[in-house]
Amino acid sequence: MSFETVILEGSVSQDLKNVLDIRKKVFTLEQGIPSAVDDDGYDNGAIHVLGVCNGQPVASGRLVINNNFGVLARIAVLPDYRGKGFAEHIVKALENEGRRRNLNSFELYPHIYLEKFYSNLGYQVDPKYKNNVAGYDLIRMFK
Ligand SMILES: CC(C)(COP(=O)(O)OP(=O)(O)OC[C@H]1O[C@@H](n2cnc3c(N)ncnc32)[C@H](O)[C@@H]1OP(=O)(O)O)[C@@H](O)C(=O)NCCC(=O)NCCS
Repeated sequence: MSFETVILEGSVSQDLKNVLDIRKKVFTLEQGIPSAVDDDGYDNGAIHVLGVCNGQPVASGRLVINNNFGVLARIAVLPDYRGKGFAEHIVKALENEGRRRNLNSFELYPHIYLEKFYSNLGYQVDPKYKNNVAGYDLIRMFK
């Protein structure tokens, strides 16, 4: 099984449509998060990563630069492709892209149940932050 990550910059392309389609399937349809929450206005001008498995678009992620932090978000893998380490590849691709732009600090706002996943990738929890979006408890993690 092959897996590769493609970095996308700029707005309209078939690859970006594939990214948005994966996010719709995972966040809007599977998790029930309103599409207005997913469409937060940061997509234009963001760096996106598309994960491609055997030629099929299956995973996504996004990097936005804010106050010297690279903000990782929208990390999603289609259900049939989970548990194969693809999300880890997406996180590392986004971090590498940030480092290429001289960013050394990264943060993300994951579901609370993903704390272990991100701490295995070197992130620590910000104890001061708690939020709830569409019924999901979110935390802030950084490194
Ligand atoms: C979270 C997600 C991106 C992980 O993708 P993945 O490719 O399966 O991840 P990896 O194979 O790299 O790592 C799997 C790890 O994810 C973690 N994980 C995934 N879903 C989890 C859940 N519901 N509860 C707890 N841990 C979970 C586990 O630590 C798992 O490790 P394990 O295989 O040792 O148990 C994927 O499950 C997904 O798209 N979920 C829905 C969208 C989402 O919640 N995105 C995160 C937004 S911050």
